[in-house]
Amino acid sequence: MLNPTRIEITAQTKAFIGGAKGTIAVIIATNSGYQKKAGTPCRGKFTEGLLDCEQIFRTLNIKPGLTILDAGCGNGYMSKRFSNQVAPSGKVYAIDRDQYFIKSLHNETRETHIVAMQADITGPTLLNESSVDIIYISTVVHIFSKPQMQGFLREVKRLLKLDALLAIVEIEKKETPFGPPLKQRYSAEELKEIVPLVPIDTVKVGEHFYMQIFQNKENQETTRICYRAKNL
Ligand SMILES: C[S@@+](CC[C@H](N)C(=O)[O-])C[C@H]1O[C@@H](n2cnc3c(N)ncnc32)[C@H](O)[C@@H]1O
Repeated sequence: MLNPTRIEITAQTKAFIGGAKGTIAVIIATNSGYQKKAGTPCRGKFTEGLLDCEQIFRTLNIKPGLTILDAGCGNGYMSKRFSNQVAPSGKVYAIDRDQYFIKSLHNETRETHIVAMQADITGPTLLNESSVDIIYISTVVHIFSKPQMQGFLREVKRLLKLDALLAIVEIEKKETPFGPPLKQRYSAEELKEIVPLVPIDTVKVGEHFYMQIFQNKENQETTRICYRAKNL
């Protein structure tokens, strides 16, 4: 069995947490900080233990019957939490481009409401058009290049049902003890400028994290103008 070793957040780990893939270990967020799973190859960084999941469920009104896409699900911890809430009639699509995460999630979640799929969410997926109630994407969009972001937003528009939600969780765009370089991060205001959906709410979902929610309205432009006018 793996014996996770506690590591302190040092300048080096900060660089690692915000840095590129391919270094020595998986870093797992826990309530008390970050842990290193000894001996495993580095594949990603997770928000597990860093987000207020109850707040997220309440804000997004997660309930039985919903279809949720956890885009860039990583180890799939949030897919599993969502799955408990949408059962028995709902479904969670857990998508990641990393085959390792998807394989282990698939093995772990057979015969549940989770469908684990390896795919690139910045392009067309195999999911049906207008089939998803909520797209949840946590600490992924800051990784995207501009063309990838455009591709992701195109796929979001294709997948969301009318009035359905896009929830983007990101690390705040200010000095934090970990995270990517500030210039790589999005503020909620910057997201509102580029996402072609109606901004509904911005909620703090962790000490260093916010969730920006958008809704897929029928007449996007009119609603957007009304929203902006209301917020002048
Ligand atoms: C920082 S991790 C976040 C994981 C998880 N959402 C969380 O909050 O813990 C980013 C994840 O996004 C995935 N990812 C990055 N680009 C992707 C893409 N184009 N398509 C699918 N997954 C992607 C990575 O493989 C990684 O698992």
